[in-house]
Amino acid sequence: INRIGVMTSGGDSPGMNAAIRAVVRACAYYNTECVGFYRGFQGMIDGDYEEMNARSVRNIISRGGTILKSARSKEFLTPEGRQKAADNLRKAKVDAMVLIGGDGTFRGGKVFWEEHGIPVIGVPGTIDNDIYGTNFTIGYDTALNTVVEAIDKIRDTASSHNRLFFVEVMGRDAGFIALNSGIGAGAEEILIPEEDLGLDRLLESLQKSRRSGKTSSIVVVSEGDKIGKNVFELAEYVTNNLKDYDARVTVLGHIQRGGNPSCFDRVLASRLCVRAVELLLDGQTALMVGFVNNRIESCSLEKALKSKPDFNKDLLRISDILST
Ligand code: F6P
Repeated sequence: INRIGVMTSGGDSPGMNAAIRAVVRACAYYNTECVGFYRGFQGMIDGDYEEMNARSVRNIISRGGTILKSARSKEFLTPEGRQKAADNLRKAKVDAMVLIGGDGTFRGGKVFWEEHGIPVIGVPGTIDNDIYGTNFTIGYDTALNTVVEAIDKIRDTASSHNRLFFVEVMGRDAGFIALNSGIGAGAEEILIPEEDLGLDRLLESLQKSRRSGKTSSIVVVSEGDKIGKNVFELAEYVTNNLKDYDARVTVLGHIQRGGNPSCFDRVLASRLCVRAVELLLDGQTALMVGFVNNRIESCSLEKALKSKPDFNKDLLRISDILST
């Protein structure tokens, strides 16, 4: 392996720049050339890349977003698109790729390796934390801090006006962001896709809160929650069914994807990406690197894609106890 490519793909996440930096610097350390592809798989298809050296990644460890840009390439889903990408990589003399992204990125990487025999290593980068084989994905910790900071502010105004707030957070089909930010921000209720508590239980819990002397409440709603209503319908349903509740909705949206990465995400990205480069130099392929019990480990992309990440439902119990 003389030349390694790196790209970021799917939804961006804080810490992706720290990850790119770690790939580029690890390549420099091991006297291996490095090129960065723009806009994920699409840049591989378009041959849109730049040579990178240790100095190309100066001062980016602290920046959110990704200097290599990101995209969800539809063309890469086709065999023709992947063929173009493989041809371009060969033309650019790129021997292997580090793919930073989520499950869509890993699915693409796995089939690309199988079809074209170009080694790939996946690095989990998404705010959703919905990947098997790692306790944390790059960007998740920063997103949690962003959400908690936002809910702290919402709590101030909720409390001033004796209001009930529904705060919708991201996470796609997974409730990691909702559950952990909900506990961190002291939410009264947390609605996640992994556990449908039902509407009656929600009404009951809010009434209980009121009876116990609470004058305002925060309900964190995961965007993938399966209660059968969107967050606005949910707020309407609750105010129609409970007297004297003044409810508001805040959808946090893409602010959760931006901002300077936390120290945790920078260190995580650095550790994962140094290992990714080392694995490629060691002749490995089709693996995903992960952070498991404070160690960097790897598992096959196949396993990462087939298995579900551990979800600690006990956190719901903790939330219940603490919202008494
Ligand atoms: O996967 C990251 C994520 O932010 C999800 O939480 C969300 O569902 C999705 O991406 C939003 O995607 P887009 O930025 O394309 O609207």
